Amino acid sequence: MDRVPTMSFCEPDGTPARAPKLSVTTRFDLSGKHAIITGGSQGLGRAIAKGFLEHGARKVALLDIDKEQGEFAVRDLAELFPDRQQGIIFRQLDVTDADAVRASIGEVARVFDGVDVLACFAGTVNSVRITDYTPEQFRHILDVNTTGTFLVAQEVARQMITKGTGGSIILTASMAGHIVNYPQTHVAYGTSKSAVHHMTRCMAAELAVHGIRVNSVSPGYMDTRLNSSADLQDVRPIWWARTPMGRIGAAEELVGPLVLLASEAGSFMTGADLRVDG
Ligand SMILES: NC(=O)c1ccc[n+]([C@@H]2O[C@H](COP(=O)([O-])OP(=O)(O)OC[C@H]3O[C@@H](n4cnc5c(N)ncnc54)[C@H](O)[C@@H]3O)[C@@H](O)[C@H]2O)c1
Repeated sequence: MDRVPTMSFCEPDGTPARAPKLSVTTRFDLSGKHAIITGGSQGLGRAIAKGFLEHGARKVALLDIDKEQGEFAVRDLAELFPDRQQGIIFRQLDVTDADAVRASIGEVARVFDGVDVLACFAGTVNSVRITDYTPEQFRHILDVNTTGTFLVAQEVARQMITKGTGGSIILTASMAGHIVNYPQTHVAYGTSKSAVHHMTRCMAAELAVHGIRVNSVSPGYMDTRLNSSADLQDVRPIWWARTPMGRIGAAEELVGPLVLLASEAGSFMTGADLRVDG
């Protein structure tokens, strides 16, 4: 078996593990890092792109099916971070299209000269009663949330292995992968997110040898358009009542956990799921 090449503080000759020689603040620093964020056009992914740039990331690529929102997001971020505007890019991508995923991530990896961090936020939801689901409706949710996440993580892992520098892959699951988001009719969504939890553990185990850490986050109810559709208005008061903190989360409240997983601060974390659910 190959030895662990990077991001390890345990010496291959058997010398005991030692702590990284970094100060507490530089452990959370993303300076010089190149990140890909799927679903980065809006919502949580866009907040994470801004958060990564605030923490020093040098290059950020937003990959999303929504071109209009994506181009808007890039303009907005370039204004906020003028020193890095050349490194903030958008590419239109449907994460369910395996050939497009391969081409798009390959191109970004070439343009960026390597990818250090992947954050997968492309996702979708529907609310359909179990007895009413069509096969197409059920498959679509799994295709985007589960297969799409895998295809992107797989291609980024290939790029990281080729470059040999290791990296951090962060998948977005959901509290809906742990518990039932009652009373919504979300069997496809919950199934798709539960699969992401185990995908995280499988990928973490297999990719550790390449210095690639794989973790997931499981947000609770967050204030994005995913939760704003008309059919959810009646159930929103139930979410409030069932969340001990009595509110839903702001997208920015995910930045801290993502930076922990993306940076050296999380250097001994892999296969973990962070619940961020109030
Ligand atoms: N908002 C929440 O309460 C919440 C809670 C738990 C988990 N999540 C997860 O977080 C992720 C982001 O959700 P959000 O709340 O920001 O929703 P959002 O709808 O604001 O953002 C989702 C993004 O994914 C993109 N997308 C959808 N299908 C795509 C595809 N096939 N290819 C590429 N991009 C695609 C959309 O264009 C959009 O930009 C999702 O995976 C979601 O399941 C959200």
